[in-house]
Amino acid sequence: MNSDLNKKFNRAIELRKLLNEASHAYYVLDAPSIEDSVYDQLYRELVNLENRYPELITADSPTQRVGDKLSSNFPKKTHRVPLQSLDNAFNFQEVSEWNARSLKILNQGESKEDILTSIELICELKIDGNAIALSYENGLLVRACSRGDGIQGEDITSNVKTINSIPLSLRMENPPKWIEIRGEAFIPHRTFEGINKKRRMALESEFANSRNACAGTLRQLDPQVVASRKLDFFAYTIHLPEELDEIKYNLAKPKTQIEALQYLKNIGFKINPYNQVFLGLKDLKEFLNEWEIKRHDLPYSTDGLVIKVNKFNLQKRLGFTQKAPRWAIALKHPAAEAPSKLLGLTFQVGRTGVVTPVAEFEPIMLAGTSVSRATLHNANRLLSLDLHSDDTIIIRKAGEIIPEVVRVLPGLRNQYAKCLSLPINCPICNSTLISENDEAATRCINTNCPAILQGALRHWVNKGAMNIEGLGSKLIEQLVEKKLINSIADLYELDINLLEKLDRMGAKSAKKIIQELEISKGKPWHKQLYGLGIPHIGERNAQTIAMQFTNSSILKDVACKSPEVIQEINGIGEEISDSLKTWFSSEANQKLIRDLKRVGLTLEATQEEKLKKDQISDNSTKLLFGKIFVLTGTLPSLSRSKAKELIENSGGSISSSISTNTSFLVAGEKAGSKLKKAKTLGIKIIDQNELLKLLT
Ligand code: IVH
Repeated sequence: MNSDLNKKFNRAIELRKLLNEASHAYYVLDAPSIEDSVYDQLYRELVNLENRYPELITADSPTQRVGDKLSSNFPKKTHRVPLQSLDNAFNFQEVSEWNARSLKILNQGESKEDILTSIELICELKIDGNAIALSYENGLLVRACSRGDGIQGEDITSNVKTINSIPLSLRMENPPKWIEIRGEAFIPHRTFEGINKKRRMALESEFANSRNACAGTLRQLDPQVVASRKLDFFAYTIHLPEELDEIKYNLAKPKTQIEALQYLKNIGFKINPYNQVFLGLKDLKEFLNEWEIKRHDLPYSTDGLVIKVNKFNLQKRLGFTQKAPRWAIALKHPAAEAPSKLLGLTFQVGRTGVVTPVAEFEPIMLAGTSVSRATLHNANRLLSLDLHSDDTIIIRKAGEIIPEVVRVLPGLRNQYAKCLSLPINCPICNSTLISENDEAATRCINTNCPAILQGALRHWVNKGAMNIEGLGSKLIEQLVEKKLINSIADLYELDINLLEKLDRMGAKSAKKIIQELEISKGKPWHKQLYGLGIPHIGERNAQTIAMQFTNSSILKDVACKSPEVIQEINGIGEEISDSLKTWFSSEANQKLIRDLKRVGLTLEATQEEKLKKDQISDNSTKLLFGKIFVLTGTLPSLSRSKAKELIENSGGSISSSISTNTSFLVAGEKAGSKLKKAKTLGIKIIDQNELLKLLT
């Protein structure tokens, strides 16, 4: 065997093992081990491998199985009409290929005038629940079975009878001897959340999703529990006896799927209202795209759309493959999770020196876009994932945007795989990395590390800070690599002649950058502060802090000598004051401030900004600024609301409860527990007269 085929052969073994184990966990143990979308994609990978290399197929391959294994808690019953599964498509192209195949089959041997150019298709939502087969005899529900292996299912009649939307008797005057109905039992989102909440409270393991909860419920031995879980049901298929006498039963036998849905509705079933018939693919595509978004607003889960040939006579001509009807296909919603093969880790060093591991993997499609890398955030995450070389990993798009590694499938791991961890030395400057005990972050603390400098420069020139157009990452990289600059301040001493000679630069762009840098010297103080890239000082915090402390010297003094003053500002906590203290205490940062001033930056609010500050903080000049009052009891002549108004007009604020932050308790007659608490905490207690004195 050549080495490529050998690799494929090993991969097929891995995939078979994992898929078989996953099936066992799902169907036999009732404890799913991997997400459905992941199963689907690994299954596909195996099918593709086996299609290309049929010699890889083994008898135990999950691809050779018709239906799935049964567990044995309930008696087995053979379905009157087998329950088939559906073939899957994962994009519109595959749907149109399916349509073309159907047309080809239908047109085989047809004369020219009978050639079909398009087929009437009906699109339904694919409800993410569990298929149920209902048998009615003489109009009465006599049996309800799970799908099982498609031939035999489990008799779960008593459980299914608790589902209110399933009629126990059909709304038909003269029902035929038998009718078989198929549909999907499911649990709506809200009910599902309630079930999991209850399980959480009872310290039981939660269901991973509503379909598992539904499957678990249907297999409950106690129908009372099933009834309490409030399942629901949408019917989508009806099988009637061939010899049905339409006149006697007063209902025309449906000739199309859309008529069948109407029929189901007429005889008492709930059908899903979002179905539509299309002639050909064009409008269908729009419907599919629309539902990709609209499905999120439904009160229950769907995992795709089902497209069926509408006319039953055409369905009959198309028939079935071994596993599924040729007349239908399921278009699965693009997975938000997918497996991929890890190619390796890279490490990014940010502007604060934090090292972030990034997983690089074989490109995969996720929610419609191709992804090949995902951040692992920090060393802890890397550890908890227990990543090994060449691992098969599950990638998810968090919030549909940022890809992340959810977990690893150790079952697909090669026994010689190496455990992956963070490097000991900075991948950029090679100095030893530091991890602080109480921090997940691992950092490079070499202030001369080119990666840190590049990050600091990118931050300084970004839109929210100095907003220097033309000074992009590539140029910054060159400036640092060529050692033309060693700090932010050096940007302002760049020689235009040197600048214009750099890659992708010219006289014009160099001139523009120098001009922009010059203009940036006059940027507001809060933008300069933000641009310094002090940890935790984002744009908003920078504004708040710059408003209170109008230049870098004042800020440095306060941060280093009395950080509690910074914490008193609304919305600013200890984390921020600590960060400012650490930053300003560093000799390298103090030098940076000196250098920035030397090259012409003010690091100070302009007169205009200071004026604005005075206007805004007008309150602070008022008598009671910063004082917190609590009112208790009845004051002799002031109502509560009047007292509140007077205090607030003088810049004070009112709180409803006593704490160590309380400045005064204004106590009147019949003061109760607040007075007691204030005494214990040593809060100053005043009466109405003293309050009025404070206000004047
Ligand atoms: S038609 C011959 N229509 O999807 C197969 N199935 O992945 C007839 N499903 O086993 C199935 N919604 O449990 C059909 N509107 C729908 C459906 C639907 C959900 C389920 C069903 C089936 C599975 C196949």
